[in-house]
Amino acid sequence: MAIPQEFISELRMRADIVDVVSSYVKLKRSGRSYLGLCPFHGEKTPSFTVSPDKGLFYCFGCHVGGDVIGFIKRAENLDYIEAVRLLAQRAGMTVPENTADNGMSRLRTRIYEANRAAARFYNKQLYTDEGREGLEYLRGRMLTDSTITHFGLGYAPKSRFALVNHLRSMGFTKAEIIQANLANETRNNNAIDRFTDRVMFPIIDLRGNVIAFGGRTMIKDFKPKYLNTSDTPVFTKGNNLFALNFAKNEAKGTLILVEGYMDVIALHQAGFRNAVAGLGTALTPEQANVIRHYCNEVILCYDSDNAGQMAVSRAIQILRPMGIGIRVIAVPNGKDPDEFIRSYGDQGPARFRMLIEKSGNDVDYRLRKLQSSYNTDITDQRVGYLSEAAKLIASLDSSIERDVYISKLAQEQGVMKEAIQEQVNRIVRKNSSSAAKREFRELKKQIIAENSAADRDKYISFGSAKAEELLIALLMNNVDIAMDVFRRVPPELFTSAFNRKVYEIIKSNAEQGYDFSLADISGSFTDEENSRIAHILFSHTRETYPQQAAEDYIRKMQENSERITRDQVASADDDELRRMMAQLKKKKT
Ligand code: UTP
Ligand code: MN
Repeated sequence: MAIPQEFISELRMRADIVDVVSSYVKLKRSGRSYLGLCPFHGEKTPSFTVSPDKGLFYCFGCHVGGDVIGFIKRAENLDYIEAVRLLAQRAGMTVPENTADNGMSRLRTRIYEANRAAARFYNKQLYTDEGREGLEYLRGRMLTDSTITHFGLGYAPKSRFALVNHLRSMGFTKAEIIQANLANETRNNNAIDRFTDRVMFPIIDLRGNVIAFGGRTMIKDFKPKYLNTSDTPVFTKGNNLFALNFAKNEAKGTLILVEGYMDVIALHQAGFRNAVAGLGTALTPEQANVIRHYCNEVILCYDSDNAGQMAVSRAIQILRPMGIGIRVIAVPNGKDPDEFIRSYGDQGPARFRMLIEKSGNDVDYRLRKLQSSYNTDITDQRVGYLSEAAKLIASLDSSIERDVYISKLAQEQGVMKEAIQEQVNRIVRKNSSSAAKREFRELKKQIIAENSAADRDKYISFGSAKAEELLIALLMNNVDIAMDVFRRVPPELFTSAFNRKVYEIIKSNAEQGYDFSLADISGSFTDEENSRIAHILFSHTRETYPQQAAEDYIRKMQENSERITRDQVASADDDELRRMMAQLKKKKT
């Protein structure tokens, strides 16, 4: 492994998991553990558990779990080494440098460097003869020179080799440039610039790295209007937001979410420096997970066309369960925020401020939308509207909130509050019983899916695999008896390939004199595998007599290993067969 074990052990002791998790999740003590709302999926009742004793977290809702490093990996969207670095920094430790480099992390570093060099290059082009057109385009869209510099905008020249040649002269390899998606590979293995004759918008992550670009054509009706970087080792479209690097410091609890690069830039220039945009997709759950750290309210300001309004509904569905406040701005006359602000000249910013102030929260927005499809002057239609509105209000979780809207609706429509109240309550009662049923069905489905996934590599027997899991948990919790077990129990005794891998790694750690808690071994496993180990450890209660329990588990595993059936031999692959043969031989001697 790239980072010395001693370092990881010390980091694990200094980076207290409750402490680290608490800066992302509000935790409440519950017995020996802590409980909170899972930051990795939307939930209303806490199923996210942290055990300081075990140094683990596990969510019983979405089955994600791991150690403190795994938590940071997920929460900050980092790779293993980056997560270690971040935790080390927090704990005032320095990662031993040269050992920290592995292939992937080196490639990522090179891609960041290539992107930064490309951003500089594109920006410089604006002030050359060839790039003048780009500069004029941006100025024509009313961007000031200081806005252009602030966002690092640029121009990609017409030549198909301009950037490639520049980066090659700086020492970047063809492979690095292609991996960064700054160039495409031709059929005869040449690299040609991905972006040509476009104005360029660099996308910057929260740590200030240039991770991707969007490039806009200046030719009317040319397709695609924007060309973007595809996913690379440093960039996943659905995980990032444009301008969050600037907006996060200005948010003061509120972010404005718009659709386009140009909208963000126009808003920032107009003084709304808390605007961000998705990257050509509707809000994703991953993006929502990122922004919830920086705000408790989102103002949605999407286009008024059909697609835009669909995107609003979707964003509401994602944000609401997270407890984030939502307001919705409707920009009049089918304009986007950039066009709206520009159309009022000097008055633009003030006009947009008014839109914000007038904007309703999402319930208001949905009620208004609902109302617009009825003519409430006609009695029949008014009844129709009221009963649909009651359904909408009934879907709100908080009874206080329901009461607020019931009063509002009653007043607005001139009906008795009690009448609406009664109808809403009836629907709430009906919903909650069907919600309970649905939840039960979901849970059952999950359990079945989990069992069948687990069964895939438990090919000798469920009983054996269970004993193996129990033994692993026991060893990780009882270091004192572990050494003896490691000496006596060969990895071959494990029937599940996954359990065997875990056992081999903790055994090898122990034999080299290292600790083997999850934090000490998590670097050898994928995120999914770590979740699985965390689950094993969490589901396991401490034995009163660990020594005796260990003997029981080992005996069960031995009994099982003696029962190799013909079916198992027939379906075994080469590795398994070899293992079975070895065991048979051992039994004979
Ligand atoms: P818009 O077409 O609304 O773009 O697309 P815009 O930002 O208002 O651009 P201007 O004002 O015409 O210059 C919204 C966003 O969708 C993504 C981009 O992120 C864009 O900012 N998009 C759009 C693409 O990725 N590709 C496209 O071809 C079009
Ligand atoms: Mn626009």
